[in-house]
Amino acid sequence: MRHHGKQIVITAVLLFAASMAMQGQEENWTTIRNGIEWTDTEGYIVQAHGGNFLEHGGRWYLIGEDRSRSWNPDVNLYSTADFQTWKFEGKIIKNHVTHEELGRSRMIERPKLMYNEKTGKFVVWCHWEARNYSASEAAVFESDSVAGPYECVWAGRPCETKSRDCNIFVDNDGQAYFISTTDENTNLGLFRLSDDYHSAISKTLLFEGQRREAPAIVHIGDTYYMISSACTGWDPNQAKIATSASIDTGWSALENIGDRIAFDTQASSILTIKGTEATAYIYVGDRWMDPDLPRSKIIMLPISFEDGKMVLRYYDSWQIDLKRGLVRTP
Ligand code: GAL
Repeated sequence: MRHHGKQIVITAVLLFAASMAMQGQEENWTTIRNGIEWTDTEGYIVQAHGGNFLEHGGRWYLIGEDRSRSWNPDVNLYSTADFQTWKFEGKIIKNHVTHEELGRSRMIERPKLMYNEKTGKFVVWCHWEARNYSASEAAVFESDSVAGPYECVWAGRPCETKSRDCNIFVDNDGQAYFISTTDENTNLGLFRLSDDYHSAISKTLLFEGQRREAPAIVHIGDTYYMISSACTGWDPNQAKIATSASIDTGWSALENIGDRIAFDTQASSILTIKGTEATAYIYVGDRWMDPDLPRSKIIMLPISFEDGKMVLRYYDSWQIDLKRGLVRTP
C-alpha cells in the first residue's frame, strides 16, 4: 500500500514535469535592477527617456529621448528580447536633421510608439516644443518598419488645444488616444485618434484644473487605470492613481500611489507583459536628473493589486518570468 502511494506521487511529479516541458513552461526568471545605468550591446548608455515599449515580432522596442545632449534630444529606438540585452536600433528622429521641414528651434519630448493593425504602420506621437514651452504642440511621425525611416505626418495643436506632456494609449479594440497636459498645464486632454492614428478627431478634458502631467493609462479587465504626476519639472512628486469604467467619463478622484515622490520617478508608461500563465503590469518611470539629465535612470516596478486597488512598491531588484508573465519580489 505504502509503495503504491509513493508510485502515485512519483507518477504525478513526472506528469507535471512532462506537461510543463510540453507547454514550454520551465521557469526562466529575469532580474530587473533599478537605479543603475543600462548599457546597449555596443557598451553605450541606453538613452531612452520619457518613452514607452511596443511589443512586436517577439521583441520589445523601447523608444525614448536621447538626453546625452540635454537640450533638444533626438529620438532613439532600442530592442530587447529579455530586458537585459539592449540592441540600439537607431536614432529614428534626429532633431533638426531628419525632419528639417519642422524647423530648427524645436525639441521633442516624450516620444511614444504604437503599431496600427489596420494600416500596418508604426506611428510616433510626441510633444513638439519650443525652448520656453510656449509652442505647446504635438507631432506625428510614421514608418512602414519599426526602425524607420519615419516621415512627419503632422505637427500642431491637437484639436487647436495647447498641449504639453503626453502619452498614447491603445485600447483592446485598437482605438488609440493621445493624452496630454493642456491649456498651460491646467487640464488633461484625452484626444481620440483617427483610424490611421494620424490626427486627433475629438477632445475630452479630464481632471480639469487639477494640473496633472505624465499620464499613463492601462486597461485591465473592466477598469481603466491612470497614473499621473503633478507639474514640478524635473523634480519628482507624489504620483496619483484614478480609475474609471469608461475612458472618457466617470474618472474617480485622484488617490496617492507609491511614496511621496513616486520613488524618485515620474511615469513614462505602463508596460503589459502577457504570459502563458498571467499578465504582468509594469510601471516604467524616469528618475530624472540622477545626477544630471543625461544620466537619468529608467526605473521599472511591478504593479500589484491589493483589495482591488493598484499598489506600487519599490524594489532595488525584482524578477519577472517573461514567458509565463509571472513576477517575483523580494
Ligand atoms: C517635466 C516633464 C518633462 C519635461 C520637464 C522639463 O514636468 O514631465 O517631460 O518637460 O518637465 O522641465
